[in-house]
Amino acid sequence: MFDKLEQALPDPILGLAAAFAEDPNPQKINLSVGVYKDADGNTPIPNAVKTAESRALADEDTKSYLPISGDPAYGAAVQSLLFGDGHPIVSGGRAATVQTPGGTGALRVAGDFIHTAHPGATLWLSDPTWANHPKVFAAAHLATETYSYYDNESNKLDFKAFTDALSKIPAGDVVLLHGCCHNPTGMDPSASQWEEVADIVRNRSLIPLLDFAYQGLGDGFAEDGRGLQALAAVIDEMFVASSFSKNFGLYRERIGALTLVTRSKDDAGRALSHLLITIRTNYSNPPAHGSSIVTTVLNDPDLRAEWEDEVKSMRDRINGVRKLLVDTLERKGAKRDFSYIARQKGMFSYTGLTPEQVDALREEYSIYIVKTGGRINVAGVTGENVDYLCESIVNVL
Ligand code: LMR
Repeated sequence: MFDKLEQALPDPILGLAAAFAEDPNPQKINLSVGVYKDADGNTPIPNAVKTAESRALADEDTKSYLPISGDPAYGAAVQSLLFGDGHPIVSGGRAATVQTPGGTGALRVAGDFIHTAHPGATLWLSDPTWANHPKVFAAAHLATETYSYYDNESNKLDFKAFTDALSKIPAGDVVLLHGCCHNPTGMDPSASQWEEVADIVRNRSLIPLLDFAYQGLGDGFAEDGRGLQALAAVIDEMFVASSFSKNFGLYRERIGALTLVTRSKDDAGRALSHLLITIRTNYSNPPAHGSSIVTTVLNDPDLRAEWEDEVKSMRDRINGVRKLLVDTLERKGAKRDFSYIARQKGMFSYTGLTPEQVDALREEYSIYIVKTGGRINVAGVTGENVDYLCESIVNVL
């Protein structure tokens, strides 16, 4: 059996890390996978996480299984982070949250659930979107289509094309929206645009699946939740896939959540019973370490304040690097106006470099970025590598 297999293609994002590790060039730069790095190029563990982790370890008295849906205290903490304490969706019992292995796990559970509970529905993805989205949903046997989102000429969200496309999606289909810090473009709707989007989604009877992986890294926790709040105000049914990889720095702990918003408490209970089967047949039940950290931080006012400050520092550094990139590219003689980099939100910059330019950066300069749109992990840029990076970009332009 195995000798007949062809070599599979490496993952377009994580596969680059393996190629980077093997590159002997001392000047190599890895700007591929979305992992926060500080000014020294390290990926720190937030202090609030460290404190919560030691507390959780000291208090832990069993390694028995968690429930299939995860720790109920975690589910409650996630709902309160998403919607805010006392939100009618939460107090009315209309939400059901399951703990998942990362945001990707949440998306896959959602995909499997949609496939069985809502057969025939197509899932609509933005063009462009995270390179793994189509693959996760194909693995769940869902049909996918794309909707217009971005104008490559002006390097902006093409709001008219976006809303026109949403208005043509058949009723009952599921539309994946990026909650904030759109991956890969970094271009999000404004608060008023989110309200328009929510109205279209409601009027067309679409079911939103919000991929919410970067809360706090765009403009702030409340600001980054504007899309979710706009949808929650008018939508009866929705999915929210949360990830705490980036804002808690818990990448390798694989901690995320899938939250369903339903019309009634009864609906939530029945929907949850199907989610439990999906989870049990995929990975049985979730790991506990990440959820105990997130729950401890979210429920302790001091740790929570410390964590929010730490996320603010990440956000401030990323925004500072955006400006540094724009200035340095100009100083190094780039003819193109790169000022849009400073307007993008979150961890990524969609530079607009062509696949040939991306290849040249890797082959000639050992600079690793994602091929689609020349996506750069802005957080990987430091005072030390910015000159070499910008000179190399100018050379391949
Ligand atoms: C990314 O887009 O780089 C991150 O979401 C990490 C990943 O798993 O691809």
